[in-house]
Amino acid sequence: MCGIICYSGSKKAIPILINGLKKLEYRGYDSAGLSVIEDKTPITIKSEGKVSNLEAKTSNITTNASYGIAHTRWATHGRPSEINAHPQLDNKNKICVVHNGIIENYKDLKYELINKGYIFISDTDTEVIAHLIDMYFTDDLEIAVLKTVERLSGTFGLAVIHADIDHKIIIVKRGSPIVIGVGDNEFFAASDPIAISDYTNKIIVLNDDEMAVLNSKEYFIKNLRNEVLKKNIKIVDKDSYSNDKKGFESFMLKEIFEQPISIKNAFRGRIIESEGVSKLGGLEPVLERLKSIKKLIIVSCGTSFYSGKLGRYIFESLTELDVEVEIASEFRYRKFTLDKDVAVLALSQSGETADTIAALKEAKRKGALLLGMVNEVGTTITQLTDAGVYNHAGSEIGVASTKIYTSQLVLLTLMGLLIGRYHGLSFIEGKSIIDGIKKLPEQIKEILSNAKNIQKVSKKYAHFRDFLYIGRLYNYPTAMEAALKLKEISYIHAEGYPAGEMKHGPISLIDENFPTVAIAPDDEVMDKMLSNIEQIKARNGKILSVTNSSAKKVIEISDDIFIVPKTIPVLQPILNIIPLQLFAYYIAKEKGRNIDKPRNLAKSVTVE
Ligand code: G6P
Repeated sequence: MCGIICYSGSKKAIPILINGLKKLEYRGYDSAGLSVIEDKTPITIKSEGKVSNLEAKTSNITTNASYGIAHTRWATHGRPSEINAHPQLDNKNKICVVHNGIIENYKDLKYELINKGYIFISDTDTEVIAHLIDMYFTDDLEIAVLKTVERLSGTFGLAVIHADIDHKIIIVKRGSPIVIGVGDNEFFAASDPIAISDYTNKIIVLNDDEMAVLNSKEYFIKNLRNEVLKKNIKIVDKDSYSNDKKGFESFMLKEIFEQPISIKNAFRGRIIESEGVSKLGGLEPVLERLKSIKKLIIVSCGTSFYSGKLGRYIFESLTELDVEVEIASEFRYRKFTLDKDVAVLALSQSGETADTIAALKEAKRKGALLLGMVNEVGTTITQLTDAGVYNHAGSEIGVASTKIYTSQLVLLTLMGLLIGRYHGLSFIEGKSIIDGIKKLPEQIKEILSNAKNIQKVSKKYAHFRDFLYIGRLYNYPTAMEAALKLKEISYIHAEGYPAGEMKHGPISLIDENFPTVAIAPDDEVMDKMLSNIEQIKARNGKILSVTNSSAKKVIEISDDIFIVPKTIPVLQPILNIIPLQLFAYYIAKEKGRNIDKPRNLAKSVTVE
């Protein structure tokens, strides 16, 4: 959702800020703005809608200003408008503030400030920050910001500049991610490393309650007692943080085709073949506790929730853990007790999903071991959890998640393998899982090589208004995820259902205008799936099946088929989802949708 980019150096700031904002567009936003300072005079430009609108406005401005802050806003307090866009300024127009997150006590603060004579122009919670800084400012901006932060409750990643203080940018983080970018005599700050990937690969991840002070010559990282901290600079792989489509027509298509690599990156260096086990460095600090846990609760949202649902089948097959999966926004409000035997695992691409963070905080309060599986390095969930694993899948820009979903499934299997080998899972079973995982990249390439045919079939289905997706066991969550893909990007109504439930309701929907996608691989429940398919055929329903070449009966009965290679049941969903990601993609393309940025959706949902 919201994004921040800041620059202090000797180059013209506006083009750098605009470029950074463009790289943040994928996160979802509704307005944008920037402030730069030249000769002690702030120039603030804002616009509703696209960053290109803001860019157009900046094209009339001639300035050599070489420091500034910029923001993409996703409205929480006050509608999307220029007035509510950031930066927000104090009444003297000297202090400019951009802010990600939510200030929970802003109403009380606003009331206090109004009583002191401050005039509020916007409906935002952010504006209180600008006025508070002004109230506390005498001659030291750091002190004024620190005093302000003491008054704030809620979450924030914020950046502040002052017209009278040359090239200084102050950044503070609590709950919303911020990285500092280190260049040669130029420094950056951003809510996502991607925003600064064109300029530097040296980053410092700020932790909660840390402040960065940048100018064009040097930077300091401090705690909120104003003491300087020593923090390591991380060198990030620019390629994995770039947002270049690399010749693909969209990010989503690129990410679908990247799955052989992202899956390899998920298991690279993480398997010990000779012992039939996995090695997950990030879990090592809690390994002893992990060995003794009895129950695992997986919490997540969206696509990460569906990989969590599959995670239950994976853990139940490989371990003796009792596993629950719950949508984070429900879990956080439930009445429950947890104890030391329970681990709560959060799955999150972004590491920033507000409901998942809240669910973890609730679990922490109740004493559970907190684990995370996150793609974005250094984000809030990675800091909140006791231990975790990274996907290392590179940036995922398409709003509809694809490569992270399959990467999560591989990592869940590796986690299951690790824990399972402490339980009853044998070496032979462990070895067969490892063999299966190693074959996945080539098997996915085989499916992707059939993309043209998948596109041809998809076109035949693009005119339908509703779809049912069915599967059993591992392929029930697959059906839900495949249906989510279709609805997210094509805006066609689709439902994922356990095939056995058809007869309890959904079958009444079936006729020649309501097709069903059956995920029916050659496995122990194939015959049951066949009966469900028969029941649909008997009601003139059209059937598109995802299956294996050995499943002759499924192939015969289906109107259309996507054949995928066969693997062991625990891994089969990773292959089954690939043609269905492409199916959703090509239908959305046929309908002319904005695939990478579907309407109303955001990549990272940082509000409840
Ligand atoms: C949003 C995104 C989805 C994503 C979900 C959970 O809804 O559009 O693609 O699956 O958030 O995000 P997370 O970053 O926690 O995996």
